[in-house]
Amino acid sequence: MMDQIKVLIGEEEVNRRIRELGEQISADYAGKSLHLVSVLKGGVFFTCELAKRITIPVTIDFMSVSSYGDEKSSSGVVRIVKDLDETLEAKDVMVVEDIVDSGRTLSYLLKMLQGRKPASLKLCTLLDKPSRRTHEVQVDYTGFKVPDEFIVGYGLDYAQKYRNLPYIGVVED
Ligand code: IMP
Ligand code: MG
Repeated sequence: MMDQIKVLIGEEEVNRRIRELGEQISADYAGKSLHLVSVLKGGVFFTCELAKRITIPVTIDFMSVSSYGDEKSSSGVVRIVKDLDETLEAKDVMVVEDIVDSGRTLSYLLKMLQGRKPASLKLCTLLDKPSRRTHEVQVDYTGFKVPDEFIVGYGLDYAQKYRNLPYIGVVED
């Protein structure tokens, strides 16, 4: 069965905003280089588009995490499915994510990565759903704030589908 998908943020607007973020990050880190940590799978599409718009030297590494147990668990523990290939020590690191929802994944991940002694650690997310936050997370760069709806596209999936949509959409009931 085909799902109906409503466009929430069109392709042009997403691209324009990513260009702005790239310019802002390049200015903020002028004279430095930046190590991007892309969170698989959802963060990959945004990471690639963002990296192309950053004009300072960039390196990229990937990690994959999954939440332990069910949603009701308050432990906030996430399991590392694939760890980074490289050390973070003394690097200016930016975690790149598709969306910050409850904040559970990111709050855990950022604490864990901070323990690896980067020179600095920041978070850039394409989307933020602040109304859903249960775990505090400092978001340094945000593409768009979105309402509490189920979002797909630009890396975000519904049962592993729709990650490849070049726009941000909402699955209609
Ligand atoms: P958290 O609740 O902030 O820990 O988000 C965990 C993960 O849930 C995100 O990285 C996404 O992969 C996924 N997620 C959260 N909201 C949505 C959504 O609206 N659509 C698709 N995936 C989502
Ligand atoms: Mg994600």
